[in-house]
Amino acid sequence: MLQQLIVLLHENKCSLEMLAHSLSISQHQLKQLFQDLDNKGIAIQRDEDGEVRFPASITPLSVDVIGAVLSEENQRLIKLDCRLVVDSTNQILLDSKPVTDNLCICSAEWQTEGRGRLNRAWISPMGQNLMFSMAREWRQGDPLVEAGMLTILSLMAGVAVASTLKALGLDGVKLKWPNDIVVKNAAGQLEKLAGILVESKTDSLKGIWVVGIGLNVVNVASWRHQVDQNITSISQLLTADFSREVILAGVIENWLELEQQLLEKGSKSLLDKWRKFDVLYGESLTVKPTNQDSFNGIGAGINDDGLLQIESQQGLESKILKVHSGEVKVRINHATTD
Ligand code: BTN
Repeated sequence: MLQQLIVLLHENKCSLEMLAHSLSISQHQLKQLFQDLDNKGIAIQRDEDGEVRFPASITPLSVDVIGAVLSEENQRLIKLDCRLVVDSTNQILLDSKPVTDNLCICSAEWQTEGRGRLNRAWISPMGQNLMFSMAREWRQGDPLVEAGMLTILSLMAGVAVASTLKALGLDGVKLKWPNDIVVKNAAGQLEKLAGILVESKTDSLKGIWVVGIGLNVVNVASWRHQVDQNITSISQLLTADFSREVILAGVIENWLELEQQLLEKGSKSLLDKWRKFDVLYGESLTVKPTNQDSFNGIGAGINDDGLLQIESQQGLESKILKVHSGEVKVRINHATTD
């Protein structure tokens, strides 16, 4: 219902009667929806004539501006859908039936059910940050899948985002296995800039993978109290002002290039790129798999399957333990984002 209300308000300036009628609800219920929006930081504007409208500044990302940044060849390789409001961009692509060989991308200005890892919600104010997903349909024998892409999707996405931010001037950008884009602040603590959520739908012969990325662009002061992690944003780290379209176009270009490299050189070259951003390497870590006891060790990089390796002292012996990404929290002792 909130989604419908936002779309209606975005399209027209409306009277309360007309809105209530279009949504088949009472004016009292409509006022409650306005209250919901207000609680989420979306202030609907009321004109003197009593009509209401959406804040004019909030519009979907421009497909044309993104297209203009991309090379002509890359423009042909993608299908881009920039929306105002969705439940979750990951869900939109999981539910869509891609009919082309193109990389499908869906962005939104607001998600009513944005989701993060470990069953968390992804919180982001409307129209200010980047929330988008990229997806492909695959069939048995797909060259990217044969090259091992499905097991390293989140690492690939981390490299695509980190390389984009580095190219924009953010030298200190790092990756925290399995899928956080972070920086270290002056006190040595990690602050999260972006998160990645990989989801898929699969049967034995075909499937669809979706990589969802949430990237903080504007100062996080207005919503950091709603998030139980240390967070930061691009505008707090870079003095130059980049449009969200430029950042998204950079991630798309990098992603397409990484896919090409995976096909030509295999996953090793990609994992080597990831290793250059590894913020956990050589650090004292606590690893907490869901429903298991936590253990400590020293970050020993990722192996050639993309698993995190932890050097752990067991009696007099030192062992390398391998950690799967599924349901695990990793903390750098004294410098955590979790
Ligand atoms: C995490 O760090 O927990 C992962 C966050 C992923 C958030 C993005 S926002 C776009 C896409 N749609 C979603 O519902 N989630 C991802």
